[in-house]
Amino acid sequence: MTRPTPLPPADFSVESSTPKARAALPAAQLAAVQAILSRHAGQPGSLLPVLHDVQDELGCIPPEAVSVIAQAMQLSRAEVHGVITFYPHYRSTPAGRHHIELCRAEACQSMGANALAAHAERRLSCHFKATSADGRYTLDPVYCLGLCAQSPAMMIDGQPYARLTPERFDAIVEQLDEVRA
Ligand code: FES
Repeated sequence: MTRPTPLPPADFSVESSTPKARAALPAAQLAAVQAILSRHAGQPGSLLPVLHDVQDELGCIPPEAVSVIAQAMQLSRAEVHGVITFYPHYRSTPAGRHHIELCRAEACQSMGANALAAHAERRLSCHFKATSADGRYTLDPVYCLGLCAQSPAMMIDGQPYARLTPERFDAIVEQLDEVRA
């Protein structure tokens, strides 16, 4: 019996990633990332603000930007990648037309957020951390929006909504479609 050939280990070293990886990022995006890095240069602990700014500017953190950020901040690609994947806020592909962030933390869970989450997946035809096939919705989990007293809660395109029920969720999404379709 032949054994499968093991895959080579992922190479997250800074050395592996420089001119070639940088070349993979379109010039306009590279310029935007470099401008952001310059703004934060010399500020200790600025990885999170850098990632926020890159995502705000480009709509996501393209995988090709990881090596550029890592090299500029003297971090390994694994460190930057680890932070991006740890925080649900960060994304490596652009969101759909409407970004729906549904709270999955405890207070919301105690008020029916799990059932609401299942309802949202059905209503949007889209799983969490994914975008619907028509590109209309991206559904993401968040872990507390500071609206615990009015849970369950969500945010759509930066706008908060509280005291949700499946019916209210449907009404909000319908309205969204009418206004911005
Ligand atoms: S737990 Fe959902 S808003 Fe705080």
